[in-house]
Amino acid sequence: MTDLSLPGLPGALPDKRQVAASFSRAAASYDSVAELQRAVGTALLEQLPGALEPQRWLDLGSGTGYFSRALNSCFPQAAGVAVDIAEGMLEHAREQGGAHHYVVGDAERLPLREASVELIFTSLAVQWCGDFRAVLSEARRVLQPGGVLAFASLCVGTLDELRESWQAVDGLVHVNRFRRLEDYQRLCGASELQVLSLQARPHVLYYPDVRSLTHELKALGAHNLNPGRPAGLTGRARMQGLLQAYERFRQPQGLPATYQVVYGVLQKPPVEGD
Ligand SMILES: C[S@@+](CC[C@H](N)C(=O)[O-])C[C@H]1O[C@@H](n2cnc3c(N)ncnc32)[C@H](O)[C@@H]1O
Repeated sequence: MTDLSLPGLPGALPDKRQVAASFSRAAASYDSVAELQRAVGTALLEQLPGALEPQRWLDLGSGTGYFSRALNSCFPQAAGVAVDIAEGMLEHAREQGGAHHYVVGDAERLPLREASVELIFTSLAVQWCGDFRAVLSEARRVLQPGGVLAFASLCVGTLDELRESWQAVDGLVHVNRFRRLEDYQRLCGASELQVLSLQARPHVLYYPDVRSLTHELKALGAHNLNPGRPAGLTGRARMQGLLQAYERFRQPQGLPATYQVVYGVLQKPPVEGD
């Protein structure tokens, strides 16, 4: 997860095999800590155009399949495909059902045919993709004319309290990097998909202490994977520094962790004359 408006930023991309392995390892713990992910995906479902009646949908970066099951309930006549880069996530999802097919694949190179789905739903997955332009171009390729891409992702401003606290301790990259909202706007605007809506909204979660937050990120599989991250265990002194630095953000509800969530709904133009 990095600011990757420029495709191919050398050395700054998280390794996809690491992303896949990290999420596969997290499959069993993910659902117990996915409060934000539930809230964001539910908000994204609410933004789907009312008239949409897909016959085939794709849940991209489907994780444990919570939203595949939600899509199956919304569109019981339709056939669903769940695609994820992490095999462990797909195995977990398959046991619980929702989609008709479970396919290992990368959002930047979708394992689907042209014009094969009417809806692509992707919640909190594409922030892991270095090349968002490729994600949009693949979405355009596999969508039917008139089909809809609904995505939720994270942008700059996310986990800033944690980032700033680490900055005060050692100045190293401890927190995943995110694209700017302006980059999402620019790339969506240039995508040959029609932008129906695109906006960012903050979600703030509160924790009793820093360890609760960092344990949760690990249980989600969403801890820092960026190149430049510090190797090995965090020493006691640096951890103590982090706890102290984060305390200056404390509020009556606890320690805040802010997520800046970008919601986008885009449509592939219908064929002329339709
Ligand atoms: C935070 S989870 C979200 C899961 C699910 N959408 C939800 O809202 O509960 C992110 C998921 O995206 C997947 N992912 C990350 N990079 C991906 C990529 N390039 N292509 C497909 N899936 C990817 C991860 O393996 C993980 O399952």
